[in-house]
Amino acid sequence: MYAAFKSIGAYIPEKLLTNADLEKMVDTSDEWITKRTGIKERYIAADDESTSDLGVKAAELAIKRAGIQKSDIDAVICATITPDYFCMPSTANIIAHKLGLGSVVSFDISAACTGFIYLVQIAKSFVESGLKKNVLIIGAEKLSAIVDWEDRATCVLFGDGAGAAIIGTTDKKEEAIIDVHASADAQYADFLETPGGGTNEPCSMEVIEQRRHYLKMRGNETFKVAVRTLTKDVVQILEKNNINKEQIDHFIPHQANYRIIKAVGDSLKLKPEQVVMTVAKYGNTSSASIPMAMNDQYESGKLKTGELMLLDAFGGGLTWGSALVPFAGK
Ligand code: ACO
Repeated sequence: MYAAFKSIGAYIPEKLLTNADLEKMVDTSDEWITKRTGIKERYIAADDESTSDLGVKAAELAIKRAGIQKSDIDAVICATITPDYFCMPSTANIIAHKLGLGSVVSFDISAACTGFIYLVQIAKSFVESGLKKNVLIIGAEKLSAIVDWEDRATCVLFGDGAGAAIIGTTDKKEEAIIDVHASADAQYADFLETPGGGTNEPCSMEVIEQRRHYLKMRGNETFKVAVRTLTKDVVQILEKNNINKEQIDHFIPHQANYRIIKAVGDSLKLKPEQVVMTVAKYGNTSSASIPMAMNDQYESGKLKTGELMLLDAFGGGLTWGSALVPFAGK
């Protein structure tokens, strides 16, 4: 039995935040943000909308498009760095409950922007081992809740959203997920972190006053490692599976910065039409960015059954990974 990528869904919150809006909040400009990142706008969840609410809406679409019943789902895994609750219950747990799935194994994983690649690897293993038949995977983030809205270096970069997919069984080899690489190395852990609020530096008035519970990023250093690592990882997964770049229908990388995507696409000599770029309209939505971009391709009619997707991500941890996935949805 093989594991196939059976459907995709996404949810984008209603509230739009443009670069012009940000110009009124911090010392920045549309010109700077566009030139350095390619981001023009992003969406922000409502105050009463939590990460699980975003995940539920994406999941409902993915379940419907897979043509399965809720009772067919036997595992729910959510990748997020912005869980509803700090320790427990898990966001996947809450999503499963809100979907009315009854008692089903559910848990979260934390791999920052690489979260969706980790999800595909875990779901593939669950299905191929025969342990599960239909795994619901969700990348969901309410990054607006951990962004420091007084820090212009980070607040212009991130947005909220969710993407979900069903990984299920197939006996057709041509539908099978080909390979997934997922890696991590904490050597550069301090490039991207929320320093305060965890057990390393428990929440206190000092942590809050010094704004250490918010996301911090050493952007420039991260940028250089990202380009190097992403390119190397893609070359490795293509070589290992004997696939050449012409066979890739959709290169769907993590959407952090158009300059990173362009540098990786150029060094791999991919044609612009192979490279999916949604960073301009959603910003960086961490674990939700790849499934949101994939959903855009799907809804615009560009992603068709049997086409080969190359996924590639890099994020806090540091974590990185890639995947070769034929789209087995309808
Ligand atoms: N508006 C105007 N000026 C700004 C802003 C802003 N919003 N932010 C920073 N600047 C200034 C800086 O203060 C600096 O000024 P100085 O030269 O006077 O000191 C100047 O712009 C350049 O700053 P850099 O940080 O060097 O800018 P850079 O070109 O590196 O772009 C960016 C910054 C966009 C963050 C880029 O480095 C990047 O995309 N990094 C990678 C991000 C990434 O991939 N993260 C991984 C995934 S995220 C996750 O896992 C959650």
